[in-house]
Amino acid sequence: GYQGLAATPPMGWNDWSYYQCNIDEKLILDQGRALVRSGLAAKGYNTVTTDDCWMGKSRDASGNLVSDPQKFPHGMAYVGRQLHRMGLKFGIYEDAGTQTCGGYAGSWQHYDADARLFAKWGVDYLKLDGCNVPSVPGQSAEQTYRQAYAGMSRALRDSGRKIVFSESAPAYFQGTADWYTVLGWVAKYGNLWREGYDIALGQQSGAAKWKSLLGNYDYNVPLGRYAGPGHWNDPDFLLVGDRGLTADEAQTQMALWAEMAAPLISSTDLTTLSPQALAILGNRDVIAVDQDRLGVQATRAAHTDTHDVLTRPLANGDRAVVFLNRGDSPLTITASASTLGLGPAQHLSGKDLVTRRTSRYGGSVTVRVRPHATVMLRLRAA
Ligand code: GLA
Ligand code: GLA
Repeated sequence: GYQGLAATPPMGWNDWSYYQCNIDEKLILDQGRALVRSGLAAKGYNTVTTDDCWMGKSRDASGNLVSDPQKFPHGMAYVGRQLHRMGLKFGIYEDAGTQTCGGYAGSWQHYDADARLFAKWGVDYLKLDGCNVPSVPGQSAEQTYRQAYAGMSRALRDSGRKIVFSESAPAYFQGTADWYTVLGWVAKYGNLWREGYDIALGQQSGAAKWKSLLGNYDYNVPLGRYAGPGHWNDPDFLLVGDRGLTADEAQTQMALWAEMAAPLISSTDLTTLSPQALAILGNRDVIAVDQDRLGVQATRAAHTDTHDVLTRPLANGDRAVVFLNRGDSPLTITASASTLGLGPAQHLSGKDLVTRRTSRYGGSVTVRVRPHATVMLRLRAA
């Protein structure tokens, strides 16, 4: 992967879906401290990213990016230093175009200078969004985006600092003829890239959150061929801990994201996380599936209006399997060993990664799944 980084999917926290532009230095550092205190940092959630709106509307007289002096009175290098002191990594947001999605100063035509500045600030992770990329006469939008992301990729490499590169480009081509063209080059320039739409915001309803996470899952799940060590599909933030989502729905998002080898980037208020939400985010067995070093995204072994079955091979030969009930009534779901990728085994054994119960099965597995819930198993031939 790019710069030899992100051998497994990145993990951490980002302010956007919960706070949008209502951010400042204190909030970012408080969330960093909560990540450490909760034990989530030790489990791999180690990158704190300041999303849009940290910067000024325009550059300074010498053309440098500047942070908003009200929100970040000590500047961004200070934020980076404080996060590093906590043992965390520092992520930052910019945009490939003339302005960010929120209307702040973009990086267009400043990739080299901005990358050098980020390196100087101790930035370890850059999310480069794709709003306001101007149209360039004589070339297609796809070509312009490609040059832009290639340009920032080169600039980060030349900055002398190892910086994980998250690209939003595919999200700007979804549903167009060029979508697959863009998916064809993102892995060359970066480590992860956005799929689907923006996940629901913190203040939206539980129903909106459920619909949005299922929607992003549906966009992301067929794209496994683009993912692998160093280069990952990103279906956007984990909403686990947010108001409105039921415990089953939150657990479902965690299971689906882990199964898809997705980046695990929480965006909620970590200072008020319930024990239940903490248990979901901190489930070591589920995290281990996400972070499995084989890095193979799950495939969909069954797909109906009411349920999906996913299966993913793991480095030790096990399979991580997820049974998803998409609907509003309880379901019984059965899958054979061969459907699960474990054929021709006549006997299977495994562990439920949420209840931690171990079980033995014949040549097929049958589970009972509550509405909007998942059962996640780690299986092998017995
Ligand atoms: C876009 C991105 C979001 C967030 C906002 C910030 O919508 O997809 O994740 O970064 O911009 O303005
Ligand atoms: C908004 C508010 C936050 C928080 C979130 C989630 O972004 O600014 O304080 O309440 O919604 O509900």
